Amino acid sequence: MKKVLLSALTIALIFLACGGGDPASAPPGVDSGSKGSKLFNMHCTLCHGKDGKLGVSGAKDLSISTLSADEMAALVSNGKGAMSPYKNVLTKAEIQAVVEHVRTLQAAE
Ligand code: HEC
Repeated sequence: MKKVLLSALTIALIFLACGGGDPASAPPGVDSGSKGSKLFNMHCTLCHGKDGKLGVSGAKDLSISTLSADEMAALVSNGKGAMSPYKNVLTKAEIQAVVEHVRTLQAAE
């Protein structure tokens, strides 16, 4: 009886030591890029497309945008024309990550 309890405890300890899928233990560096592209896929591809060129309802081609990163962040926060503001949808850090992803669309051009 005691042995069973002890091994159950050991298993529980091993599980705890491994972090049990704690999101805070995600490897650093890997996250920032994929986070931006995930957010982009979720919120932006509807109008801009995966490559930024789709142009639904007058959406600008992001791959040839001449805006600076700061200007993009401001535009995404406040919206423009048919594009709705995202300041209440995404956090500042998320907007930053999305803008970073948009910059990579331009680099690929
Ligand atoms: C409902 C469709 C729609 C969605 C969703 C959308 N956009 Fe837009 N976006 C537009 C339209 C339309 C414009 C052009 C606005 C204008 O200049 O009148 C635009 C313009 C932009 C511009 C400015 C490009 C330039 O050079 O002027 C950026 C940057 C941008 N969008 C990024 C994003 C990002 C990032 C997201 C996701 C968080 C997003 N958009 C989601 C429709 C959309």
